[in-house]
Amino acid sequence: MNRPQATRPTDPETLKACCAAAYEQDLVALLLGESYHPGGLDLTRHLARTLDLRPGQRVLDVAAGRGATACLLAAEFGVDVDGIDLGPTSVERARLAASERGLDRRVRFHQGDAERLPFNDGTFDAVICECAWCTFPDKATAATEFARVLRPGAQVGITDVTLDRARIDPELATLAGYLACIADARPAAEYAALLEGAGLRVVASEAHDDALTRMIDQIEARLRVWALLDPPGLTLAPETILRYTAAAAAAVADRVAGYQLLVARKPERNRS
Ligand SMILES: C[S@@+](CC[C@H](N)C(=O)[O-])C[C@H]1O[C@@H](n2cnc3c(N)ncnc32)[C@H](O)[C@@H]1O
Repeated sequence: MNRPQATRPTDPETLKACCAAAYEQDLVALLLGESYHPGGLDLTRHLARTLDLRPGQRVLDVAAGRGATACLLAAEFGVDVDGIDLGPTSVERARLAASERGLDRRVRFHQGDAERLPFNDGTFDAVICECAWCTFPDKATAATEFARVLRPGAQVGITDVTLDRARIDPELATLAGYLACIADARPAAEYAALLEGAGLRVVASEAHDDALTRMIDQIEARLRVWALLDPPGLTLAPETILRYTAAAAAAVADRVAGYQLLVARKPERNRS
């Protein structure tokens, strides 16, 4: 992985492209496995059950990454899925994953921006967005887009990193911002307010901070092994890695960082 740059881009379009490119690095797959969010596919199943997904429904996976969630939803819940991601390589890999599993007729992937979804109003029975909203520079616009593409009465299900930015160790915030693009994560109450501001009603909010702790432990264990191999691509010294993972684990223990599931419903159309 590239060494963190001295300055991070501030222009929103560059920031988004930089984040999408970061998640296309092979090291990310090595560290995170097939799905790129705390809780992995078990938490995805829980989210799908909370959304009460039913066979034949049409679901949008926003920031679909390598397509693990979209394939799971189609295979295990019988839904048709559109996945969208900003990273062209991620989209290619997701298409390949769906094709290898014989799911290409039920799962389609598109390259595009969560803040400008290329779908008509009221298209989907559910929208899912896992561990990605925290990275979008314009969270209010993304929430408005989630609401717009949902049919009336349908729900959006989100799992995402939460951060109390006033209390986070600045060094950790910088590293999290550089490596995982999560420095702009918000507290759970702020995500809920953004969803409500987009005209949705929050119907579920659950803390899954333990999932974030497990992911930090997994990253630490894999980075330790990786560091032992002394590969040319690793620019962080093992002791630096351990310092950061310990600080990240402490941030979760101190409730400065966490992982939250939120479900919000679009109101039914008013009957006149
Ligand atoms: C942490 S990964 C999560 C991927 C996937 N949801 C998962 O859980 O496996 C974040 C993803 O967000 C995508 N992304 C970042 N900004 C985006 C944007 N503005 N529109 C669409 N995708 C975006 C990245 O390319 C990356 O694949």
